[in-house]
Amino acid sequence: MIQIQQNVDLSKYNTMRVSSNARYLVEVDSVETLRDAIRFARLNDLEVLVLGGGSNLLFVNDFNGLVILIRLSGIEIKEEEGRIQLKVGAGEDWHELVMFCVARNWGGVENLSLIPGTVGAAPIQNIGAYGVELEDVFIELEAFDLETGEVRIFKKEDCNFGYRDSIFKNELKGKFIITSVSLCVTPNGDVNYSYASLSQKLDEWGISAPTIQDVSKAVIDVRRSKLPDPEDIGNNGSFFKNPIISISHYNELNERYKDIPSYPASSNEVKVPAGWLIDHAGWKGYRNGDAGVHEKQALVLVNYEHATGKEIMELSEKIRHDIKEKYGIELEREVNIL
Ligand code: EPU
Repeated sequence: MIQIQQNVDLSKYNTMRVSSNARYLVEVDSVETLRDAIRFARLNDLEVLVLGGGSNLLFVNDFNGLVILIRLSGIEIKEEEGRIQLKVGAGEDWHELVMFCVARNWGGVENLSLIPGTVGAAPIQNIGAYGVELEDVFIELEAFDLETGEVRIFKKEDCNFGYRDSIFKNELKGKFIITSVSLCVTPNGDVNYSYASLSQKLDEWGISAPTIQDVSKAVIDVRRSKLPDPEDIGNNGSFFKNPIISISHYNELNERYKDIPSYPASSNEVKVPAGWLIDHAGWKGYRNGDAGVHEKQALVLVNYEHATGKEIMELSEKIRHDIKEKYGIELEREVNIL
């Protein structure tokens, strides 16, 4: 039996903490209840919105359909030739999974410590931080096909992973619901701390041969020093993607802005940090009512308390316009707008 709630305020279900009314909401903790929920939506001709941790979306309008909160839980562990395969329910909290691995000294996900959201949401945007992306540890996932009601397996090559991107944001958007994700971690695995802010932090602590736990602690420390905790202040993490521009465009900008950072992207393109662009355009710490740009990381938009989704959206549009004007770069939102 599924329990469907009506007219639910979604502010506690999205990390930006904006208000939006859902006509119906249901929590599902098994594939069977998920199937029942989909049947209910079909019978009543309702649009479906799947919510994990609500960390990557912004409600600009009310939602006149059925919100499905994914609560599928559990971690299955399989050991094989010195490696560990974890099959994790889509509703498990991502950071708790990372802590589960770090506590056992299983390496591979420690750089992804403290990323808000659920395990099921992680592959959709191929979450990444400090030199590691989900695809580096990904084996396969199971997803519920909204058309046939069957569960299908997607191997890594089926997912078309890219920078903050996968097939689930493109061709298959809205067609599947991820129910579990299988990852591979390595007991006492090698650590990767080449990312500048990470190696600086470890140096500061006088650690020259960091363990998995050390790297996780350093990531947590760096993130806490720059990124607002959604428990304290509403936010979606990075609001925009880091844009990829041609080397010739970059060289032009570099003439005018000597310290503009860049990372290699392809043979004729570079990635430029959107945070730098927004910061140097003077937006860092900007505030209009309760909508603002975080004081320590310009890539993060924040809701100080009562901002509406529309106000955050308007602010993001103003920033995009200004960045286009100043640098000739179109910023793309990382966050999904609803
Ligand atoms: N910078 C500024 N001002 C700012 C912010 C950044 O000048 O306000 C400069 C920094 O000094 C640095 C560069 O921009 O030279 C890059 O900054 P940082 O290392 O903080 O990383 P980022 O590019 O801003 C990306 C991810 C983050 C991830 C970090 C660490 C994207 C869109 N964002 O941010 O991901 O944690 O790298 O790997 O790729 C997220 O997706 O929600 C997220 C937080």
